[in-house]
Amino acid sequence: MTGIDRYGVMGCPVSHSRSPVIHRLFALQTGQQLQYELLQVAPDKLDTAIQQFRRTGGKGLNITVPHKSEVTRLVDHLSERASTAGAVNTLVFEREQIFGDNTDGIGLLRDLTVNQQVELRDARILILGAGGATRGIVGPLLEAEPAAIVIANRTLDKARALAAHFSASGPVSACRFRQVPGNTAFDLVINATSAGLKGETPPYPQQAVSAETVCYDLSYGLSTTPFCRWAAEHGAARSVMGWGMLVEQAAESFQLWRGIRPDTITVLKQISVSA
Ligand code: ATR
Repeated sequence: MTGIDRYGVMGCPVSHSRSPVIHRLFALQTGQQLQYELLQVAPDKLDTAIQQFRRTGGKGLNITVPHKSEVTRLVDHLSERASTAGAVNTLVFEREQIFGDNTDGIGLLRDLTVNQQVELRDARILILGAGGATRGIVGPLLEAEPAAIVIANRTLDKARALAAHFSASGPVSACRFRQVPGNTAFDLVINATSAGLKGETPPYPQQAVSAETVCYDLSYGLSTTPFCRWAAEHGAARSVMGWGMLVEQAAESFQLWRGIRPDTITVLKQISVSA
């Protein structure tokens, strides 16, 4: 098939996604010819939609909520990081096969270490929440060799299961919000709960935050997220929304597809969301 290379993001709902804007800016910046579409796909149509997209000139896809876990079953090859995360956010259509990868974790790491200049080696890290988002970031964070990662969750069993899953790879432990140790503040507190999306502010552990703590919300919005507001009110050194992670994970996908890494800082400024 000739014509322009097609990419897109599949999700449900997907209309709010910023990925088309980000990838169009990347394409413009790097002089790549491609189109990037928003593809609303219901869960029971995912397999068919992927196959059809591929047959009609599709070269790759981003996969978002609620398909990230399900799509791991539909690929021929899974990268190690996607396998560890139990989730795929990027598909690459190779000649005969579908390759599934996950760039969310590396996107977070790049935003933290390159854009935000946060030192992760020997850092004490607290992650709030124990769902799919947490599962996707623990592996990459451990590779940065922190002193400790504590996963705190409303439901203790889920935090325990994740800690057990990763315990062979590094110092990970689990607790409830109210059991978060208060003797030493954390260097980094990451909000990976979905509470803010529902406008909720659970009783986050304020003992975890000091004037040295960077607070990072995986969520982002045009106005400050409830977690970032909470962090500022409790005296955090900085509170950062996840716009940088969004742009960095997109850049990693773009590189997988096109073999070229766009400059992310200009795009972050262009989507005029940096705090
Ligand atoms: P995601 O893929 O975004 O991580 P998820 O797998 O549904 O979504 O996980 C949502 C996380 O947010 C869970 O850790 C959930 O806590 P529980 O395991 O106790 O359900 C957390 N969460 C959502 N709403 C919350 C709230 N109001 N208070 C505390 N935690 C909340």
